[in-house]
Parts: sequence; C-alpha cells; structure tokens
Amino acid sequence: MAVKRISNENDMKLCVVMVGLPARGKSYISQKIVRYLSWLSIGCKCFNVGNYRRVLGVDKPKYGFFDFDNMASYHVREAALEMAFKDITEWFDGNSDSDNIDNTGHSNGSLTHSVAILDATNSTRERRDWILQRCHEHGIQPMFLESWCDDPETIAANIKDIATTSPDYEGQDECSASQDFKKRIENYKSVYSSLNTADDKSLTFVKLINISHEIVINRIETYLQSRIVFYVMNIRIRPKCIWLSRHGESIYNVEQKIGGDSSLSERGLKYAAKLRELINENVENNERLSVWTSTLCRTQQTAQYLPYEKLEWKALDELDAGVCDGMTYEEIEDVYPEDFKARDDDKYEYRYRGGESYRDVVIRLEPVIMELERQENVLIITHQAVLRCIYAYFMNVPKEESPWVSIPLHTLIKLEPRAYGTKVTLIKANIPAVSTYKEKGTSHVGESTDAEGAHNMLVNAPEMTQ
Ligand code: F6P
Ligand code: PEP
Repeated sequence: MAVKRISNENDMKLCVVMVGLPARGKSYISQKIVRYLSWLSIGCKCFNVGNYRRVLGVDKPKYGFFDFDNMASYHVREAALEMAFKDITEWFDGNSDSDNIDNTGHSNGSLTHSVAILDATNSTRERRDWILQRCHEHGIQPMFLESWCDDPETIAANIKDIATTSPDYEGQDECSASQDFKKRIENYKSVYSSLNTADDKSLTFVKLINISHEIVINRIETYLQSRIVFYVMNIRIRPKCIWLSRHGESIYNVEQKIGGDSSLSERGLKYAAKLRELINENVENNERLSVWTSTLCRTQQTAQYLPYEKLEWKALDELDAGVCDGMTYEEIEDVYPEDFKARDDDKYEYRYRGGESYRDVVIRLEPVIMELERQENVLIITHQAVLRCIYAYFMNVPKEESPWVSIPLHTLIKLEPRAYGTKVTLIKANIPAVSTYKEKGTSHVGESTDAEGAHNMLVNAPEMTQ
C-alpha cells in the first residue's frame, strides 16, 4: 500500500507553507502538488487564504486593501489566515468543514490526511513566525516552499491569467484588472522578505528561483519532504501538449480476451495509418513529438508509421492480469467467481493472482509522470488500464473512479495542462472498433461500436476541469 510504504510517523502531518509575491505561480505549484500526491494516495489538500478572505466578505478588493499600513484590512487578512489554519488543523484531525470553502484536494474517502498546503503570500518573517509557532503547537511539520521569480515573461503571463480568471476581478476588464493587480504586487514588494540560508537556516525550506533554473534547499529531512522537493524540481511551465492513444484494435480485443501480446486486427492497422494523418493535422507548426510506447507488439504496430523518435517503456505495459491473462471476462467469472466480484467491488485495489492492481500500475508509472513533467511534446501509445491511470493524474480523477473511466479505441486524446486545469480534446479516427469497456456487475463488454458510440465518451472530461 503506497501510504504505508512511503510515509512514516514523522511524515503524518506536513504543512507546505507557500511563500512568494503575487503572480509567482504559487497556486499553480500548489495545485500540482495536490494532484500528484492525491494520485499517489497521499491525502493532500490546498487551503487558499484568498478564498477565506472572500468568505469574510472581501471579495473584490482594490490594491489599497493590500497596503500593509492599512490596519483595518490587515486584521481581515489575519482573520483569513487564522481561519485557514484552523481548517488545516481540523482537517488533519479528520473533522473538517473546509469543503465548504473552495479548496482543492481529495479530503474525503480513505486517504490519510498527510499534507496540507497553505497557499498565501506569507511574505514577512513575522507572519512566517506566527505560522511556525502554530505548527509547533499542533504537532505539524512546517515546510516552506518559496516561488521567487524575476522573469518578466512569466510574471506578465501570470498577471494576465489572474486578471482574467481570479474571482477578485470577475466582471472587470482585463486592462484595469491588470493595472490594479500590479499595484497590489507593489504593496507586497515593500514588505517582502525572501527565504535565505543565513536568516532561515533553522527552517525546512525549498526555494525555486524562476521555477527550476536554480533551487535552494535547506533542512529537507523526511522522505515525504524530499519527494515533494523532487517533484517540484521537475515542474516546467512552458505550455505543452500531451497526446494519448490506445493501440489500434487488436486480435485479442476482437476475441474479447484480456492481456496477451497479440497483433493488431485489420481495423487496428487502419488506425495506425490514420494516426499519422491525425497527428499531422493536429500538431501545430509541425512540432517534433517524442512517441512513447509499451514493449508490447500492439502499441509498436500502432506507432509504426509515425516519423518521430520512439521510446519503449516497460512501465507502459498493460496491467498484468496474472493467471487471468488471455481469458475473457466471462471465463474469469466462471473460473474465479470470487475474484471477479472482488475486482468489481474494489477495482483500484484488487490485485490479480500473480498479477497487478491499478494501484501497482500507478506506482510503476511514477517515473513516466516525472519525465512527462519535464518533456515538451509527447505522444503516448499504450493500453486501457495504463491510460486510465495517466488520465487520472492529469484530470485529478479520484482513485476509486479512475479504473472505470471509459477510454475508447481509435481516438486520439489531446491534453493541454494549464494553470487552473487541463483541457481535453477528443479526436476521433472514425474507424470502427469493438468496445472493451466492461460495466460494473456484468461480464459483458459493451456492444461493438464505431468511434461515435455514445457510451465510449470519456467520463470526467469536461472542457476544463480541476
Ligand atoms: O481489454 C483490453 C485491456 O487492455 C486488457 O488487456 C486489460 O486487462 C483490460 O483492458 C484492463 O481493463 P479493465 O481493468 O477494465 O479490466
Ligand atoms: C489574499 O488575500 O488574496 C492573500 C493571498 O492573502 P495574504 O496576503 O494573506 O497572503
């Protein structure tokens, strides 16, 4: 079990305290950490102080509200911080109401509450000392994560993003919102003190300078802390696309058998040829792609016409069905009825005899995800279960739901990770294929369908989520 394997006593309550001027990507980094840790079944939730300030009634503040000499507003901001911190302590204790505030994370279900992220500017030593003190009182380990940035392009892009998407500026035109926000930043600059190894040598902290150009780390002591550091070191912020596809229809798919290493059917081979066209039509400016496949024949056949560099990953092989490999779902229900039911009851945790569970697949995919964070434009051609796990990471699908996401054959999926969510586009090849989707409680796969089949739509795939 991932939680037991990677956590220990010391790791149980960790508060990542964000530090940074406005428009330095703190919320973006916070969201990514929540998504990554939740995907690994480590309970993680982000508490955004701006949301608490809005709950306190200050929902469209002008820059003057953030003037540090303005005592009335200073008290409101302190109250918002107190509220956020109280929710953090209650969340760690397992009795939180914080879902009423627009905070993100998988707080419900069976996840151990391990990592809270306090997303605010936390710009002064005085405020950080207050947080430190409160963490000590509650047995919480503080870890400061500063995003320091002086790259004009990144800052301008973040200002634009906030001016157009933040609830603080809802209904305002972009130009006046940007102007106000720039003045807000100036207010913060007048008091801001950055972390450094001389003044803050007793603190656990990581300081990202221009995202990943330079990284300072200090007193990183536990496994969970170092895991977070390793993850944030790999984050890039350049806009990019990730392309996903299942292999073309295989002989085993047609015979309704799972696993194996069969070749593509005739229709599957047609998809392989069509995939090249789909990529040509949809990849902007003929950008170079890296094509990642599994080591199995059906993904390599699907990639055969693509004129790009190809990389085989064992980690992208389909979920190992152990003793059931090569059987149909109906045969599995006949021969192993208890296992068949156990899998339907808890598909994420169920491990095939001599094979794998979805949780096992997530763990072996971690290096793939880390590399994806670092890479520019990648097309991954892999298998149903593996794609569900990758999709769940990008779309923040709760682990219980992820094994039930429907990912149709003969469909190219485009993911565009953005600051506040991932945009999904489905590009259908219009080449008929069988369905391999088995509904809970039956041993039948769906009716044969072409790429327009309604039940084959991805679930949890609105235009923009998170
Ligand atoms: O049927 C295609 C397939 O990729 C099998 O090889 C694999 O066992 C299965 O899908 C995984 O899907 P599920 O977890 O829904 O059984
Ligand atoms: C906010 O109110 O939007 C905010 C980020 O608060 P703070 O200045 O307390 O970080």
